[in-house]
Amino acid sequence: MLLKDKVCVIAGASSLRSIGYATAELFAEHGAKVVVVDRVMDANVLGDIKAAIESRLQRAVPVHGFHCDISQSQACAQVMSDVIALHGTIDCLVNSAGIVNSQPLLDIGENDLDVMFDVNLKGAFFLCQSVLKIFVERGVGNIVNVSSLAAQRGGAHTMRPQRAAS
Ligand SMILES: NC(=O)c1ccc[n+]([C@@H]2O[C@H](COP(=O)([O-])OP(=O)(O)OC[C@H]3O[C@@H](n4cnc5c(N)ncnc54)[C@H](O)[C@@H]3O)[C@@H](O)[C@H]2O)c1
Repeated sequence: MLLKDKVCVIAGASSLRSIGYATAELFAEHGAKVVVVDRVMDANVLGDIKAAIESRLQRAVPVHGFHCDISQSQACAQVMSDVIALHGTIDCLVNSAGIVNSQPLLDIGENDLDVMFDVNLKGAFFLCQSVLKIFVERGVGNIVNVSSLAAQRGGAHTMRPQRAAS
């Protein structure tokens, strides 16, 4: 059990098909105290996540969940305080919350751009800043930020015009 009793906060895990959920399942398998954080989070969502992990591992696992819109700095600070109140510490943050705009670059409006930056850039920053305050005090901690090729090529991956066959 590589993560026995480690408190691991995983952002972006509400869907059972998400990378965040897969991370939560793997970390629980390795003994972590998993805390899932998402803008889509309530008792039903958390119940589904916990049931899916327990069904897969065939044992009870400690999984908690908090609602948080990571584009809001205060919400990120609050969620870390809530986890500290629950478990007393945080060992690891995985940020797998993100959105992809699959429109071609020329079609993306300023509002769409703002939303992408608010979640993918500022959200990652706010989560890191909030947890780093705790890690700096403790002198230890781990952060994993999940990114995408879409950050380099655009969500639609259609930046290169097709060449006509000659
Ligand atoms: N799925 C892939 O093939 C793939 C490949 C490369 C990179 N990625 C990247 O990995 C990350 C996760 O991808 P995924 O496929 O699991 O996506 P997903 O859409 O299944 O999960 C993303 C999660 O982030 C949450 N989220 C979105 N905005 C949020 C906000 N403001 N606050 C809190 N939570 C928010 C969503 O509710 C969702 O649960 C993304 O950054 C994505 O770009 C995915």
